[in-house]
This record gives sequence, C-alpha cells and structure tokens, in this order.
Amino acid sequence: METTVILLKPDCLARKVVGEVIRRFESAGFGIRGAKMMAMNPEMLREHYAHLVGEPFYPLLEAFMMSSPVIVLALAGDGAIERARMLVGPTDSRKAAAGTIRGDMGTDNRRNILHASDSPESAAAEMARFFRPDELFGG
Ligand code: TYD
Repeated sequence: METTVILLKPDCLARKVVGEVIRRFESAGFGIRGAKMMAMNPEMLREHYAHLVGEPFYPLLEAFMMSSPVIVLALAGDGAIERARMLVGPTDSRKAAAGTIRGDMGTDNRRNILHASDSPESAAAEMARFFRPDELFGG
C-alpha cells in the first residue's frame, strides 16, 4: 500500500466538484487516510512549488492557490502515486483527455482542479508538510 497527497485547489471548491473528485478516487479503490481544509500561505507554497518559484507565472500561481482555502487528502491504495496521476491527467487541462479529472473539470494549466504527488519522495515530503502524524490514520 502506498499513500499519495492530493490538494483540491480553489477552482475545485469554486466549481463545487469536491464530491465528484473524491468519488472518482473512491471508485478507483483509494481509501482516505487523512482529510482537512486549510489556507495556504506563501512559505508553504514556496516549499511545495520549489521547482517553480523562479517561473514567470509563479506570482499568479501563488495568488490562485491563496484565493480560497484548499482541501488536502492523503489517499492510500496499491500504486497510489502513479494511479492517482493517471486519474488526474496532465498539467494543462486543455490537453487532458476526457475521462481524466482535469480533462473533465479543469480549465487551463493553472486552474487544473487538483495536485497529486509525483513520486514517493514528494508524497513523503507532502505528507509531512500538510499533516501532523496524529492527523493520518491507517496505512
Ligand atoms: P507542475 O509540477 O509542472 O505540474 P503538476 O501539477 O501536473 O504536477 O506544476 C505545478 C502547478 O503549477 C500546476 O499544477 C499549475 C501551475 N502551473 C501554472 O500555473 N502555469 C504553468 O504554465 C505551469 C506549467 C504550471
């Protein structure tokens, strides 16, 4: 069993598709180990998006991620990290296939509904970043 970290971004909440996104993961067999609503702050985002801090679009990304609270999920399953990325689709929602979460619900390459950990190392770092140990169950 593996655990991946999903962030439901402000556009997911604004479009009221939180339930639909969680339903897709549950239908694919994922189990919920942790879930909470939280407000992002610039420090947390600079850590989370360290690979993008120097990009010209970073200020817009930061403003978007702080435009409302987000929902953070820790989801467990066999091969959870890779399987979640497949369900999510590529970064740019306009290029994501129908049937993927971004393809069906996203708008573009910033408003793309959710984040999913991209490797076991990122998943471990994100779990530590967003959850206290007593906020994670099972596993
Ligand atoms: P990245 O880690 O490349 O993609 P993913 O979310 O698919 O793992 O990028 C992180 C986020 O940065 C992405 O979800 C949305 C934002 N972003 C932009 O706002 N503009 C861009 O041009 C790109 C490439 C990403």
